[in-house]
Amino acid sequence: MRALPLFHDLRGRTCLVVGDGEAATRKAGVLESVGAHVVRGASVDALDDVALVVVAETTDAVAQDAFNRCRARGVPINAVDRPRYCTVTWPAIVDRDPITIAIGTAGAAPMLARLLRTRIEQAVPMSMAALARLGEGWRTRAKAALTAPTARLRFWERFFDGPVTEAVFRGDIAEADRRARALLAGIPATPRGMVHLVGAGPGDPELLTLRALRLIQSADVIVHDRLVGEEVLAYARADALRIYVGKRRANHCVPQQDINALLIEHARAGKRVVRLKGGDPFVFGRGGEEIEALVEAGIACDVTPGITAATGCAAYAGIPLTHRDHAQSCLFVTGHLKDGRLDLNWDVLARPRQTLAIYMGVASLPDLSRQLIAQRLPGSTPAAVIIDGTRPTQRVIAGTLASLPGLAAAVAAAARPALVLIGDVVGVALPAQALPLAAE
Ligand SMILES: C[S@@+](CC[C@H](N)C(=O)[O-])C[C@H]1O[C@@H](n2cnc3c(N)ncnc32)[C@H](O)[C@@H]1O
Repeated sequence: MRALPLFHDLRGRTCLVVGDGEAATRKAGVLESVGAHVVRGASVDALDDVALVVVAETTDAVAQDAFNRCRARGVPINAVDRPRYCTVTWPAIVDRDPITIAIGTAGAAPMLARLLRTRIEQAVPMSMAALARLGEGWRTRAKAALTAPTARLRFWERFFDGPVTEAVFRGDIAEADRRARALLAGIPATPRGMVHLVGAGPGDPELLTLRALRLIQSADVIVHDRLVGEEVLAYARADALRIYVGKRRANHCVPQQDINALLIEHARAGKRVVRLKGGDPFVFGRGGEEIEALVEAGIACDVTPGITAATGCAAYAGIPLTHRDHAQSCLFVTGHLKDGRLDLNWDVLARPRQTLAIYMGVASLPDLSRQLIAQRLPGSTPAAVIIDGTRPTQRVIAGTLASLPGLAAAVAAAARPALVLIGDVVGVALPAQALPLAAE
């Protein structure tokens, strides 16, 4: 963010508008509409008690002189179309009094700000103003009736997204008021909390489900792990409590029972908790263990599936997991070493015409390759390692079953999640998905 937007209370304050063109008159009109005392002039002379100076349609010399004087006196100045002589910029405004939406581009693209304003004007109906005024009237009553902050939060969530709002938008304020009264009476003094296990998908935020997005946006508390990126977390409410419980292989940051206890504690405090996990919570995600603990503790919970790494990475790398000519089944396998060794059913894994999707398999690549070849899966079987799948940083390293051990060091050095795909489907070259753009 290049500049901080603040709303300036100019009621009764003096604002100097320099210039006598149409733009100056427009700015003077806006300043008067917010209660400012506007003085018009051809240059900046006295600045005593001036709260803001606006310069429009003057010469560069006048604007520069005004800028220098304002800077010396610490008076904010906005010079129309002359960003170098501004200490404050004038936003594009959507006015739904008491709601004001200001859009700024720090002088980079004023035309874009105007375009955005048109879109927002369309999206925010005029009746939003009436809704805000109704809300203002209910603030004191809600505060007096509901002492628990979570109870008040639930009241306002439903107030602004339900029958009260619908009645206001229909123009029936009396009905909206009746609905608000019923709503207030129905909110429990201490609301029950709940835990939602939510799959965040493999990385690209576009792969979130609509439900996952809605739950993330409404969560009071988000408990997330390492695979959940900032782009996904950015959808959370600004006031949501974010708790990182990330784990690395053989380096468990937070023990599972502590995570369970955390979820239970916040749900018992009446919070809406989202346990956000990379991929799908029930695919190598310990979702089952967490649900068991929650059920045992009597906490209401549910699960929202996510796109698992195998399907996400395969799609973005252009590899079909099944294909009528090459693979009739696909196995999701964990390559996580237990007591330093791989404990897998090699006979089943080495069957022909199937695809293996191996999670957490980087450290076990040499073992994996050796065991599968020993079970007579040809060393020439195509294989690929997909690092950071579906993210702007995705890398696909293609090879064969026999060459996998040679890739282990490079993949480990990337220190990013990696998925191994083995099977003839890897040789089917489909166009890869265009990768999402990196966030700045
Ligand atoms: C603990 S498992 C979690 C799997 C997750 N629940 C899912 O459904 O995708 C973590 C492993 O998933 C794989 N993985 C997750 N996201 C990935 C990504 N974006 N790219 C490559 N592999 C990924 C890696 O093998 C990683 O070690």
